[in-house]
Amino acid sequence: MSLRLGDKAPNFKAKTSVGEIDFYEYLGDSWGILFSHPADYTPVCTTELGRTAALKDEFAKRNVKVLALSVDSVANHQGWIPDINETQKVTVDFPIIADEDRKVSTLYEFIHPNASATATVRSLVVIGPDKLVKLIITYPASTGRNFNEVLRVIDSLQLTANHSVATPADWKEGEDVIVVPSISTEDAQKKFPKGVKVIKPYLRYTPQPNK
Ligand code: BEZ
Repeated sequence: MSLRLGDKAPNFKAKTSVGEIDFYEYLGDSWGILFSHPADYTPVCTTELGRTAALKDEFAKRNVKVLALSVDSVANHQGWIPDINETQKVTVDFPIIADEDRKVSTLYEFIHPNASATATVRSLVVIGPDKLVKLIITYPASTGRNFNEVLRVIDSLQLTANHSVATPADWKEGEDVIVVPSISTEDAQKKFPKGVKVIKPYLRYTPQPNK
């Protein structure tokens, strides 16, 4: 069964680089990112896990807990982490799941058999505090992810979860947002005191409400 936006994120228990965890317990009431990488001791993955560690404060600011995964063993994760720390000038302190039996990879469809029969692709799932799936992105093994984009989507998700707005193409924190179509312009003018700019009846902008 495939995992789709709005689905309940499956819970699991797993061995990780920092001991056994229960996914829901690990997340608590936070947002979560669960992301897979193809293999330990590989160059692109080293930069991705380093970048994730470097963004620790950015994730904390957004109340997001991160959790990585590959099908390598705990011993491999623990042996590789010092290399990431050394080469990327970081401290990796988030857990990395050792999914040797592919249990979590199967639940979250991180193995795409026509890409690789055995290794996980670069998938990333954002989970809300309600444990529902908010974002799924998948990259091939040869392309490292853009973690600025991951932060940008989280900013959008958190904004749209709390206000009746959507975010336009290439939107960044602080820029004008879009009034959702389900709100009339009259109601939007009351709801958004900073003003509503009507370009077309269906295309209306307002300054970011929480700024
Ligand atoms: C890498 O992380 O560099 C990588 C892993 C698997 C395939 C290609 C690249």
